[in-house]
Amino acid sequence: MKQTIVSGMRPTGKLHLGHYLGVIQNWVQLQDKYDCYFFAADWHALTTKYDKTEDLRQNTLDVIMDWLACGIDPEKSTIYVQSLVPEIAELNIYLGMITPQNWVERDPCLKDMAKILKSKEGQASQINFGLMGYPVLMSSDIMMFNADYVPVGIDQVAHIEITRDITRRFNNLYGEFFHEAKPLLNHCSLICGLDGNKMGKSFNNDIKISDTEEVTAKKIMTAITDRSRLRKDDPGHPDDCEVAFKYWKIFGSEEEIKIVQDECIKGQRGCAQCKRQLAEKINSTLAPIRQKRKYYEEHQDEVIKIIEDGSQRARLKAKEVLSQVRNLVKMY
Ligand code: TRP
Repeated sequence: MKQTIVSGMRPTGKLHLGHYLGVIQNWVQLQDKYDCYFFAADWHALTTKYDKTEDLRQNTLDVIMDWLACGIDPEKSTIYVQSLVPEIAELNIYLGMITPQNWVERDPCLKDMAKILKSKEGQASQINFGLMGYPVLMSSDIMMFNADYVPVGIDQVAHIEITRDITRRFNNLYGEFFHEAKPLLNHCSLICGLDGNKMGKSFNNDIKISDTEEVTAKKIMTAITDRSRLRKDDPGHPDDCEVAFKYWKIFGSEEEIKIVQDECIKGQRGCAQCKRQLAEKINSTLAPIRQKRKYYEEHQDEVIKIIEDGSQRARLKAKEVLSQVRNLVKMY
């Protein structure tokens, strides 16, 4: 019997290379060894964006199309949408009952989210009841499939700690049933943004998986290089190159990296030329992924079928777990 993995993403729109290199590539690897459940957390999106739902469906489709394009395989993994598995909401009720208020109040992830929200204007600057329940809902996602491991970024580990606390409490109260899920850390910040800071959708410094080759090339030309270099035949300093050389180290072969480095140091390669080559390299690496994404964009009915089938499959397993939970809690 394979061990179980659960992980999800809030559907915030098209994914970028940070997601691809930091998260999705990791998921792709895990698919063969584990029984994997990957989902779009549309309820979690509502915790902060309940007043802005007009793009939510399209964002959910976009996220899942990006996964499929990158190699998440519906034959190997169960791909679903959180809100299509209503059993999670029922589990959330039981878990909410056994979670002390101060466990969620001291959740550092939630404190960060609250800080960001408060700095914004409008309706959603309030902290609502649903947002307070964020870690409980996340625990429901994880425990719904009795997961053993949860691949997440470091920023999510505090949530998983709460999940482990809730698991122990459930097992103590009602009998040993749930596994204590462990976080599996994604390597974060593998790739920085075009400005050298963390790559992020809202920082306007990202390259999307779904960007065209032209857009990618244009974006790459804005990437920061060695700031001390004025003319193209000045000797360069690859180690001080803030973005372009870092990208070469991710996308280039060992041989290519060596050539770029040597030519830069000797002043034989200008930054513009270097970035044009880099864009070609990135575009050719992403070509098969983008081709696959284009296919799904043109066949959205297939994507919807994958989501429906996956959600159906997820529900079968969820119903099994839930019936045991109901039994343990002594529901009628
Ligand atoms: N909170 C996660 C994030 O923002 C998304 C998420 C929701 C999740 N439920 C989960 C991740 C369950 C792992 C397991 O990235």
